[in-house]
Amino acid sequence: MTARSLFSFLLLSWAGVCVGQPAYAVDAQVVVHADRPGAVIRPEIYGQFAEQLGHGIDQGIWVGEASAIPNIKGYRKDVVDALKAIHVPVIRWPGGCFADEYHWRDGIGPRGQRPVRRNLSWGGEENNAFGTHEFMDFAELIGAKTYIGVNVGGGTAREMSDWLEYLTADGQSSIARERRANGRDKPWKVAYLGIGNEAWGCGGHMRPAYYADLYRQFATFVHPSGDDPSAIVRVASGANADDVAWTEGVMSAAGELIDAYGVHYYTLPTQDWKKKGSATDFGETEWIATLHGALHMDDLLNRHSAIMDKYDPKKRVALVVDEWGNWYDPQPGVASPPLYQQNSLRDALTAAMTLNIFHAHADRVRMANIAQMVNVLQAMILTDQKRMVLTPTYHVFDMYQVFQGATSLPLDVRAPDYVFGNVHVPGVQASAGRDAAGVVHVGLVNPSPDKPVRLHVRLSGAQAKSIKGRVLTAPAITSINTFDHPGVVKPEPLAGMSSSGGEWVLSLPPRSVVVLDMR
Ligand code: AHR
Repeated sequence: MTARSLFSFLLLSWAGVCVGQPAYAVDAQVVVHADRPGAVIRPEIYGQFAEQLGHGIDQGIWVGEASAIPNIKGYRKDVVDALKAIHVPVIRWPGGCFADEYHWRDGIGPRGQRPVRRNLSWGGEENNAFGTHEFMDFAELIGAKTYIGVNVGGGTAREMSDWLEYLTADGQSSIARERRANGRDKPWKVAYLGIGNEAWGCGGHMRPAYYADLYRQFATFVHPSGDDPSAIVRVASGANADDVAWTEGVMSAAGELIDAYGVHYYTLPTQDWKKKGSATDFGETEWIATLHGALHMDDLLNRHSAIMDKYDPKKRVALVVDEWGNWYDPQPGVASPPLYQQNSLRDALTAAMTLNIFHAHADRVRMANIAQMVNVLQAMILTDQKRMVLTPTYHVFDMYQVFQGATSLPLDVRAPDYVFGNVHVPGVQASAGRDAAGVVHVGLVNPSPDKPVRLHVRLSGAQAKSIKGRVLTAPAITSINTFDHPGVVKPEPLAGMSSSGGEWVLSLPPRSVVVLDMR
């Protein structure tokens, strides 16, 4: 602590005692290096994932035009409005594991005549009412780019290139005419093309060398039409969490044909896929374990990036985290659609921590897709018939919108760890960025369930004359939003910030996410 901040700390402690505020158990400092701009934080790291499973799309996004639920051409109006409000930059579809069983021709033409297939990955039946037109028009409606996952495990390169022609061809080819006959004159834009999904698992249980060869074959036949055919980003199916051998194998054998490399990482409170842990019924042991697990993302990115640097030192290839989030057990005794889970304040904190980590890796991490958008895993939104509720994770994506397109700024954080049992996590976890208007935004997490942090924030190389903040917290670590009580976890303005000698002092409440705007 500098002499100046020690002085302001003593002064504020004294002032706090005088006005009867609680004594601060934790004091911390953040210095944002406004004079050391890094890479641009691509808006696409705020991307989402919508798979054909459970009530993710069917009922979550799509209800059909005849539904009594208010809809815009079949898309739930409440969900569309909520997604527009957070400016979803890109959506990944149709999977996931489902992508490697999906045949795109099943999802075009008159809806009543589309085939009904078993959903082999997730159970139940897929009526294909939501197909190519429905997805592409949905993305257009909410203003998002598209990320299409193609079937490598059970499909062919020919099937992929026909689909791409259907999506993007502007000429008079039979496939372009077929699209027009199905109601879409102008071609759509496909921004990203995923060549297989989890090729090491549900996508075919392949070995890296075999997948790399298949990737090379498929990538060769990616010929989109349109203004700039080279603009499409080909995404390779990357590693499962820590599997750096997969990264080594795929990058060494196919790196020169890869535009983006997709890593998947899910956080489980127990780290045990057989008994992952509850979404709602947990104590401090599971709380800190989940936060600690989310922070592992940083280590993963460092290790995969180091291998990518070996084959791609100029960082041409993007690292994309095209599936991430918390994954819990289904609620016992409650019949729910597959992969449906509640979302608590804990999910908000891990979302903010993960986004903070992505900001720090902005030079290599250029897209991410949280799993998933509606009613599946760490969702933004939950629906039940006519009702909809915004989750704590949604509110973090809302608060953090200001980072989309900002320039990442390095920061130094000094805070004593929050410790429970023998698990340690940083007492304050943070990231910073400067937007086009010059405003510096700082995202902060106080992981302690019960202790506020008195935070001293300073910019180096710039002066902040004013500050505003929003805070997300709730009465308990397990607090949730429900259809009957949708406003338990929601952002509020942050009050009580003061400045002294170029430094801002504020309180981070226990178990909170805060975003500051410094001008
Ligand atoms: O997001 C759910 C599933 O998790 C995806 O389908 C799959 O890719 C991953 O294992």
